[in-house]
Amino acid sequence: MSTETSNPILNVAIAGCGTIGRTHAASVAEIADLQVTALVDEIAEAADALAQHIEDQGAARPATFRSLDEAFAGADVDLVIIATPSGLHIEQALEVLNAGKHVVIEKPLDVNLNRADDILAAAKAAEEKGLVASVISQHRFDPASIVVDEARRAGRFGRLTSAIASVSWYRSQGYYDSGAWRGTWAMDGGGAVMNQGVHTVDLLLWFLGTPVEISAKTALLAHTGVEVEDTAVATVTFESGALAVLHATTAAYPGLSVRLQVMGSMGSAVIDSDNLQFFHAAATEEETQSGPMGMPGASNQAEAELARFGGPGAAIKAGPHPLSRRPHPPIQGRGGCHPERAARRGHHRGRCAGAGHRAGTVRFGHTGPPRAHC
Ligand SMILES: NC(=O)c1ccc[n+]([C@@H]2O[C@H](COP(=O)([O-])OP(=O)(O)OC[C@H]3O[C@@H](n4cnc5c(N)ncnc54)[C@H](O)[C@@H]3O)[C@@H](O)[C@H]2O)c1
Repeated sequence: MSTETSNPILNVAIAGCGTIGRTHAASVAEIADLQVTALVDEIAEAADALAQHIEDQGAARPATFRSLDEAFAGADVDLVIIATPSGLHIEQALEVLNAGKHVVIEKPLDVNLNRADDILAAAKAAEEKGLVASVISQHRFDPASIVVDEARRAGRFGRLTSAIASVSWYRSQGYYDSGAWRGTWAMDGGGAVMNQGVHTVDLLLWFLGTPVEISAKTALLAHTGVEVEDTAVATVTFESGALAVLHATTAAYPGLSVRLQVMGSMGSAVIDSDNLQFFHAAATEEETQSGPMGMPGASNQAEAELARFGGPGAAIKAGPHPLSRRPHPPIQGRGGCHPERAARRGHHRGRCAGAGHRAGTVRFGHTGPPRAHC
């Protein structure tokens, strides 16, 4: 950190200057007390192009490096954003924490559960040194996600019985061909589920809890030269007894929505493309007995629930700590939220995200960048 004044500048390095690295640079630019001082990419042209872009936007040109080591030796760095291929996340995050710097890791945390365990342990140790370690889960900050989470925690849906999660997207052959790491087991860790579907899987587990049994089928149906699946279906049984259907594909031309239906004995909600499309929670148990078949399609309370929520600003005001272990994410910014802002606040307060629980996917602190497509 450059000074110890009340408003110190946090120096940010972005590792991986591709699609999402650029999104993070834009996010940092929105926050007055953050600055990108270093860009790291194994392809020098990628780092140079992003440095030029940052300079063109009116900020100081960051120095560029081929490795984290070089960046730590050659620039002031307090926080590193890991935006490299998924299979490198933990290896690089450990390097960052070992160097005594905060780290924000893009999703997925990694492609290997054992390595993910390593980072959970390292994050806990780093917490004692006042370091923040966090992973991106930007959809936890969507108003729709927060409304559904609050309702289910308050028991307003009654007993959660089932869910349907569907990611019906399209990725062209050109998308897979655009990076040697895409669609490989070693670096992407999977296909439509691991890369594109991971946010929806995260929300599914957030709402329904720990899965105990999964049965799945995967296929590669509409792409070539790809090791992993472009289509997957699964049935999931949760500890609570609730059942879910999961579907993810990158072979649904021209690309439909991401849809998550959460259903219970007293209420249900539908999140479609991040928006709360439907919400109904019975006011009383008696209401559910008012007719033998319920009230299909009636009484959509979504608008009222979102109004009660108070908009994105409420999430910021509600948050006691940006990377706390509270079950809903407490910080949100324009177009989603900002991991860098979260780290900034964590840095001020000298606290760390720390490790959380693991349930099929791994979670610790959750932060997210502005909207981006996986
Ligand atoms: N949160 C989201 O919604 C979201 C969206 C897109 C991507 N992502 C994640 O971000 C990560 C990157 O995805 P992308 O689409 O930006 O990929 P990309 O291929 O566009 O960019 C990756 C960059 O990392 C660089 N790189 C590769 N190996 C490196 C190394 N050892 N050191 C430094 N740089 C290296 C590449 O040269 C490339 O410039 C993935 O893990 C992906 O899952 C998240």
